[in-house]
Amino acid sequence: MTVSRLASREQSFAERLKMAGPRCSSKVRLIAFIALFVALFATGSATAQVPLLIWTSESLPPLASPAAGHITSNDQLNAYLTSAFSSGSHTVLLFLQDKLSKDDFTVFGGVFGNKQDSAFQNLEAVLQSSSSSVTLPALEWSGSSAVLPLLKDKLGVSPLPVDADTLSELTINASVNNLLLISLPYCTGLQKSCKEVLHINDEIIGKVLSIVKAKNVLYTAVYTGVQPSRVISETSVPNQPVGRSLLQAVVADVSPPIMFNVSGSPCIMLWAQNLNISFTSTSPWLDLATQTPSLAGSLCNQTNSLLVLTYASGFVLSFAMSQRFYPGSARNWFTLDSVQLQSSGQTASFIGSRSIYAPAEYSFHCQSVNSFDQALLVPNNTNQNTSQWRLNFINFQIQGFGLGNGTNFSYASDCAGFFSPGIWMGLVTSLVMLLILVYGLHMIMQLSTMDRFDDPKGPSISVPQSE
Ligand SMILES: *[C@@H]1O[C@H](CO)[C@@H](O)[C@H](O)[C@H]1NC(C)=O
Ligand SMILES: *[C@@H]1O[C@H](CO)[C@@H](O)[C@H](O)[C@H]1NC(C)=O
Ligand SMILES: *[C@@H]1O[C@H](CO)[C@@H](O)[C@H](O)[C@H]1NC(C)=O
Ligand SMILES: *[C@@H]1O[C@H](CO)[C@@H](O)[C@H](O)[C@H]1NC(C)=O
Ligand SMILES: *[C@@H]1O[C@H](CO)[C@@H](O)[C@H](O)[C@H]1NC(C)=O
Repeated sequence: MTVSRLASREQSFAERLKMAGPRCSSKVRLIAFIALFVALFATGSATAQVPLLIWTSESLPPLASPAAGHITSNDQLNAYLTSAFSSGSHTVLLFLQDKLSKDDFTVFGGVFGNKQDSAFQNLEAVLQSSSSSVTLPALEWSGSSAVLPLLKDKLGVSPLPVDADTLSELTINASVNNLLLISLPYCTGLQKSCKEVLHINDEIIGKVLSIVKAKNVLYTAVYTGVQPSRVISETSVPNQPVGRSLLQAVVADVSPPIMFNVSGSPCIMLWAQNLNISFTSTSPWLDLATQTPSLAGSLCNQTNSLLVLTYASGFVLSFAMSQRFYPGSARNWFTLDSVQLQSSGQTASFIGSRSIYAPAEYSFHCQSVNSFDQALLVPNNTNQNTSQWRLNFINFQIQGFGLGNGTNFSYASDCAGFFSPGIWMGLVTSLVMLLILVYGLHMIMQLSTMDRFDDPKGPSISVPQSE
């Protein structure tokens, strides 16, 4: 169930990436460039974190699950490892990759849609078959990895660096603690693609585990990164209970899209990380994406789609979309015409102002759809009582037409392409540069040597004599 829900979002993301392809790679580069500057100067808080997977052929104590959205601290990991390795002797295989982030699983794990395509096939298989496993999607990371020192401390032995070849020669004495360190590279962007590198790493993991199994040694394996491959901002990352599959566990902070079905097949889909509403300019945001709505009153026909989300908490949020043929572009486009919020008998409505649109067979995606800051949704209130109401949808994606039988969003038309100030700044700057260049070229073309004056052998200048 969860995987299929994830699938829809991730696949559409992947499709988006794919379709973004070379066509707008310069735009992407420009965005990346701007993003770099923003990142350099941003003061926002981003907590670095690495994922950590533990699985074992013995048995692991269950991890006391902290509150959802929690980043596991090194102290918690310490306490957990103490309980896991308190008695008996253990053979620990530490797969320490130069870099690793949760995103690597979402981007390179082909589970979404195509299992054969995953770079983590061995890892997934072994996690599913191992007698117990623990996944920490987000382990606090502050400058250096705490995992190796912690394991060294808990087991009281020094790590022995091995690779698959030396391991097959090695005799493991299972009556003492062993810490075997398998270092794995991360892509440097030079020779191989990231997916290839991760795939090769996954093969190594598979090979090492089969050697250890062949030696009949009980083991505990840990897979983590020396450092994050990306710095990810602090978002809700729930810790998962033991025994779920890798990707499900690691990216389970993704909720399913809301799907309105007509005769068994979806006709409207909506997904948002947050559907925040607020009733005064100072009151805190209330996130409706955390609640499950009923879809009664929604409808779909050829030209109109209406999604009505009725929440048990008494709020009703509705999205009205329509599609029509625009002769100018010779195709159908859909627009999100209005969004209405109802609460305790009052209604506030917001107009899509024709800025939320996409080709009818696409979905519309926008990082931020709100009613107050560079508003895509313009308040349309004559009612004083609701004039303060605000909407703020984060990472919002909607599609009301052309879903066919699929449960995935179609390729997303992204608002950022048109509205990001960064892009406008980039475009204007480039245009000015181009103008200067063209002007310069033009001036250079105008230059010509004064052949007559400079060439002594040429015919002399004749000055017409006036009578
Ligand atoms: C394994 O280690 C224990 C403790 O050091 C030792 O007594 C035993 O002889 C070792 N076994 C082998 C096969 O080396
Ligand atoms: C809508 O249809 C899809 C696929 O046909 C299904 O996965 C989903 O559970 C359905 N949703 C509802 C609310 O019936
Ligand atoms: C949306 O609401 C949630 C819950 O109140 C809050 O944690 C989150 O920061 C809000 N997001 C924005 C962008 O306001
Ligand atoms: C579709 O639904 C809308 C809203 O209920 C209605 O106005 C319109 O006439 C319907 N169109 C068709 C083709 O049924
Ligand atoms: C505004 O709220 C007041 C008090 O709740 C109510 O009496 C009044 O009818 C409301 N006005 C409108 C236009 O709904």
